[in-house]
Amino acid sequence: MKFFIDTANLDQIREAYALGILDGVTTNPSLMAKEGIKGNEAVLQHYRNICEIVEGDISAEVLGTDFNTIIEEGKVLAALHPNIVVKVPMIKDGVKAIKWFTDNGIKTNCTLIFSAGQAILAAKAGATYVSPFIGRIDDSGWDGMQLISQISSIYAIQGFKSQILAASIRNANHIIDCAEAGAHVITSPLDPILGLLKHPLTDIGLAKFLEDAKKM
Ligand code: E4P
Repeated sequence: MKFFIDTANLDQIREAYALGILDGVTTNPSLMAKEGIKGNEAVLQHYRNICEIVEGDISAEVLGTDFNTIIEEGKVLAALHPNIVVKVPMIKDGVKAIKWFTDNGIKTNCTLIFSAGQAILAAKAGATYVSPFIGRIDDSGWDGMQLISQISSIYAIQGFKSQILAASIRNANHIIDCAEAGAHVITSPLDPILGLLKHPLTDIGLAKFLEDAKKM
């Protein structure tokens, strides 16, 4: 399972990359706004900066919602760096645009996936990644992990090539459950990734080893 970090914060991207386990980055307009990135040129430069830090797929989201605007924006984003993946929303023109990008050799991430039907359409259009938002599904009283399992079964039965990119991760257990449910990729903020490190018995065991080492 690949690990992407879900942030536009360059320090957190550097920290995760330094761990040696990072395979890529996802961003969205909310994450860019949180970092105070304003204006088209600043946004494009921020994507370039991320591409310089991480060797791996970097999702950059289009803002257009009609086919022509999505294509024009996506071409500009894809031209920034070979590792850019154009992130396109799950809407009718988005599906058409994903098919166009696929036919023209541009990688895509179909975002805002909340149902198996949407995941099937995105795969049919040839999306490189499909992003089910498990935390937001959990927040609304449904079971996000059940959707990951369902998409995983459908893709295996049908031989779809799209990779399931589990998004909207809220905690370390989400990452473990995604691995079990068949996600190909998780994208997570830094804290849930670091949460995987933690176990009190590791801390207690290490303290004892270090204490006993003084007797050696
Ligand atoms: C990633 O591609 C998504 O935009 C992101 O995971 C959404 O996460 P959130 O539900 O925490 O905003």
